Amino acid sequence: KNIVILISGRGSNMEAVVRAAKAEGWPARIAAVISNRPDAKGLAFAQAQGIPTATVPSKQFPTRAEFDGALQLEIDRFAPDLVVLAGFMRILTAPFVEHYAGRMLNIHPSLLPDFPGLDTHGQCLAAGKQEHGATVHFVTAELDHGPIVAQARIDVRPGDTEETLATRLLVEEHKLYPYAVRLFVEDRLRIEHGEVRVLDTQ
Ligand code: GRF
Repeated sequence: KNIVILISGRGSNMEAVVRAAKAEGWPARIAAVISNRPDAKGLAFAQAQGIPTATVPSKQFPTRAEFDGALQLEIDRFAPDLVVLAGFMRILTAPFVEHYAGRMLNIHPSLLPDFPGLDTHGQCLAAGKQEHGATVHFVTAELDHGPIVAQARIDVRPGDTEETLATRLLVEEHKLYPYAVRLFVEDRLRIEHGEVRVLDTQ
């Protein structure tokens, strides 16, 4: 299977997926890493791994529709079976999302349906929650609302700040995302009535 990963910045989740695919010998190939920002730090890692990279600079497109159209063309050059959003900080248009329906995943740093959108660690602290987490979900037109594939949980500790939560959660994200992407690659995910069913291995 061909996987195209989209990033906007650091790319540590992309890195975790790339490393797991290699170490665990997935029946998959990271076909490309594409950024909407030319200065995304993660591009250097991908290049060092010999993965093709591309940049579609979102700043240069006057409308979301034009950017998403250009991005779709670039992605589809690599004939992806799966598009993996890894810290890709863009709101996507409905036609773009529809084009990749059932084959685009995102990781969001909260226990969805709690705290969609930005500043999830701050939202979690402000709400006084005892638990925080991350969610991998299929991408649908409504932001951070698609069918949930898997979640990872951490306890909120006394004295936690946005930074300590983010740091502790990132460790879990780096296990969760490779796990979820691997389920897709192994063809073990089905979307039924808007919910994900995970098939057992034989
Ligand atoms: C992660 O916390 C991810 O859940 C969120 O943005 C962050 C991206 O980090 N969507 P990185 O670029 O993968 O290092």
